[in-house]
Amino acid sequence: MHFEIPIPSGIFVRPYSEDLTSMSAIRPIRLFVLTALLATSAAYADGVKGNAANGKELFMGNVCPTCHSVIKGDDLKVGPNLFGVVGRKAGTTKSLMGPSENLTKYGVIWSTETLDEFLANPNAKVPGTAMIGILTDPQQRADVIAYLSTLKD
Ligand code: HEC
Repeated sequence: MHFEIPIPSGIFVRPYSEDLTSMSAIRPIRLFVLTALLATSAAYADGVKGNAANGKELFMGNVCPTCHSVIKGDDLKVGPNLFGVVGRKAGTTKSLMGPSENLTKYGVIWSTETLDEFLANPNAKVPGTAMIGILTDPQQRADVIAYLSTLKD
């Protein structure tokens, strides 16, 4: 599985509670990510077509399932369940952690466009968010969003 994410993968194996008590632990990573984003932002292109099968592979092979369930009704993970995420309002889904105040304030309806903006740099849209899954590659973002769009009744 090949997946590019500008975060050393080891960071995710740390027990999550550590990050909760000391957010400063992830600040240097944010800076790192920001630098990576600035470096690649020129490569962003509109109208990238997503492939749901590739997106599923990317999602499952990435850190996303650590914090997100895709099984309807399973809200026992740190992040919101992503079943039915497209068409839903940000910050309205139960999870172990519950939505942050800033996510609730953000309050967008999740669509291809809003997910694209958010997943490119969650912290830019929702300051201080614990959502650290970042997809800098527009094609990979489009693929993952195409997969998320299939998670519905
Ligand atoms: C360390 C845990 C963690 C990881 C890893 C993670 N997320 Fe998240 N994610 C969260 C949390 C927590 C939130 C809620 C953020 C808030 O309330 O500010 C969230 C929110 C989201 C949302 C908005 C959901 C909603 O209903 O509002 C999407 C979409 C999302 N994440 C996708 C992803 C994807 C795709 C990946 C993998 C690339 C990923 N996440 C990796 C913790 C995580």
